[in-house]
Amino acid sequence: MMSRRVAFLRLMATGFVANHPRVGLGNGSRGKERLMRVQRLTSENPRTQGAARRAQYRRHSPAHLDTIADLVRRGLAARAASAPRTAVILGAGACTELPLHALARALDTILLVDLDLPGMERARAELPASLRPRVRAFPADLSGGVSQALAALLRAQPWDDLARLSGPPSAAPLDAAAACLEQCPVPDPPPIPGLIPASPTYGLVISSLLLTQLFSLPLLDVLDTLALHAPDAVDRREAHPRYRAAAQSFRRRVAHAHLSLLDALLAPGGAGLLITDVTGHLLPARTGPHAAPAPESLPVLPPDVLDLPRGLAAHFTLASPTRAWRWIVEPPRGETPGRAYDVSAAVFTKPGSAPAAS
Ligand SMILES: C[S@@+](CC[C@H](N)C(=O)[O-])C[C@H]1O[C@@H](n2cnc3c(N)ncnc32)[C@H](O)[C@@H]1O
Repeated sequence: MMSRRVAFLRLMATGFVANHPRVGLGNGSRGKERLMRVQRLTSENPRTQGAARRAQYRRHSPAHLDTIADLVRRGLAARAASAPRTAVILGAGACTELPLHALARALDTILLVDLDLPGMERARAELPASLRPRVRAFPADLSGGVSQALAALLRAQPWDDLARLSGPPSAAPLDAAAACLEQCPVPDPPPIPGLIPASPTYGLVISSLLLTQLFSLPLLDVLDTLALHAPDAVDRREAHPRYRAAAQSFRRRVAHAHLSLLDALLAPGGAGLLITDVTGHLLPARTGPHAAPAPESLPVLPPDVLDLPRGLAAHFTLASPTRAWRWIVEPPRGETPGRAYDVSAAVFTKPGSAPAAS
């Protein structure tokens, strides 16, 4: 039986990976090749992205859509007059919360980047035909293949021997998982063929609620592997100092590589916008056995992974104070708990870039 905390972590750590038995921890049977979390995005995203989801947000979380639209306007305004009239959107998905129409009207070309090509195509199809030629979709793993590298390391471990020889509650499976995280290469910046130009060319670079997924999804692959071979280890991992330190260092390396990617894409005089979830909340059901007096919360971007705005200011010049708001993904309904995130976002430019035109 999965503990409440593990169920909570699984829900909140991914943001968009559903609490569904088919994709739960330890899915797939022993000996069968399981899909990595990043490989499931294209089939799972349609439940949580797109026009219908945007309409729901308009009803129950309008501040989420309005704040992002305002930040995009500020990003456009923070560019120097000389900045290229191009944008790249990382983690674009189906552009559920991004005002793609307004961006396409304001700029000449927009590159959407995500692993989910059909989602990006749906976003483009929502535009009037006259604006569609300005938008192109580029499918890519924006971590630079971290999930694949980690999966190869995980596959090479003698899990069954580790679990059998030592027996529960052994530290061996958690030591092996920690070693995989420690050894996993995290290229900085991530090499993404065809995306990173020889010199940065985008006048607007947006990272859209992607950052925490870049490390959470591979970390969930680790949990899936543990759940399959050493299920008792899953609940013990946060009390295992080596595993905890390895996971935190992995998150930190991935987050910092992402900032390097933003830098590699942002043209002098251009502006960037980083939007990221920071804390997840499980909102208690209103009635029934899951009703509770207060939300349960979990940091998804702890300050020792990336401290906002300080960590961003170390690379870029902040154009305005950080914005923070509550994004209600699912309000609680009856006996069903809801989900929400605290989100932080900042508009930035490159140090030494020409000031924005007035
Ligand atoms: C929270 S959603 C962002 C939603 C999107 N900004 C929108 O407005 O609909 C995160 C997005 O990151 C994408 N993603 C997650 N990991 C990725 C990776 N390693 N490489 C590329 N995209 C990834 C997912 O497919 C998803 O579309």
